[in-house]
Amino acid sequence: MLDAAAHLKAGDLVAFPTETVYGLGADASNPEAVARIYSVKGRPNDHPLIVHIASMDRMGDWASEVPEYAIALAHNFWPGPMTLVLKRSELAGDFITGGQDTVGVRVPDHVVALALLEAFEKAGGKGVAAPSANRFGHVSPTTAAAVVDELSGYLSKDDLVLDGGACAVGVESTIIDCTGLLPRVLRPGAISTTMIEEVTGLKALDVDGEDVIRVSGSLENHYSPAAKVLLCETPLPGQGFIAHASIQTPKGVIRLASPRNDEEFAQVFYSALRDADTRNLREVVVVQPIGSGIAVAIRDRAFRASYKKNF
Ligand code: TXA
Ligand code: MG
Repeated sequence: MLDAAAHLKAGDLVAFPTETVYGLGADASNPEAVARIYSVKGRPNDHPLIVHIASMDRMGDWASEVPEYAIALAHNFWPGPMTLVLKRSELAGDFITGGQDTVGVRVPDHVVALALLEAFEKAGGKGVAAPSANRFGHVSPTTAAAVVDELSGYLSKDDLVLDGGACAVGVESTIIDCTGLLPRVLRPGAISTTMIEEVTGLKALDVDGEDVIRVSGSLENHYSPAAKVLLCETPLPGQGFIAHASIQTPKGVIRLASPRNDEEFAQVFYSALRDADTRNLREVVVVQPIGSGIAVAIRDRAFRASYKKNF
């Protein structure tokens, strides 16, 4: 891990596993390294990046104001699948925040990620900027092989891809805006609104249509495979199919995943969408899980994957 941290310090990119999805990391204090993230991803450079840190003790480096409820959230859910959006410090440059006055910070819950972040901090680093390690608009990778598939044509020889196995959660972190009086969920994830309310004792708001804070995940054509994703339809022969194990596969339909519960659904969802592309399927029918908890995040991503370029 010392080697990977040295690569980060040298300005190289290091893709690494987290519990949610794989991230494409760069030294968050190095504008040239961060600029390479944008070019490798093909992502517009006014989209802010999440800074990954080894522990909540580092929050104060990146944030200038941390409300009490954000501290409670950090205590309870870090390391874990949660990103806090806070008023930024001077360290959080425009090249990280996309020019906004806030910064997203997260402590991931994965042994490889934490070892990398700790080694990086020991080497004098402050934090690792990392978006999901996919090309802009594509499905996030949940295995190292998927990262290589997505990015090998764009990475340089000194960049690294660390393999930490398949991600346990499988959908991106819950993003919570902590700049107002009440926490506000900008992107649903494994940390649910109910969990936020229990820990903070406050009402948690959801994103509204007039949000001025940019979340690129909320662009309509995000999280999309090449195959067309259909919701609320009966699958036809030759189409891919993703649904709970309790739902049977109609004859001639290509079953891509049969998760036994919502957690497993989240875990396998992105790899099942990738599988559809590997098999050159034109359409995939997804039966979305109902109810609260991580099902909300799955429905959110399924909707975005389905919202397609019909041209
Ligand atoms: O689970 C995750 O969050 C993964 C892993 C690698 O940590 N990361 C991830 O990063 O999903 P990315 O860049 O693919 O998505 C982060 C989202 C983007 O939509 C970005 O616009 C939003 O977070 N974001 C980052 N900083 C923000 C800020 N200051 N205010 C509002 N949104 C922000
Ligand atoms: Mg992403």
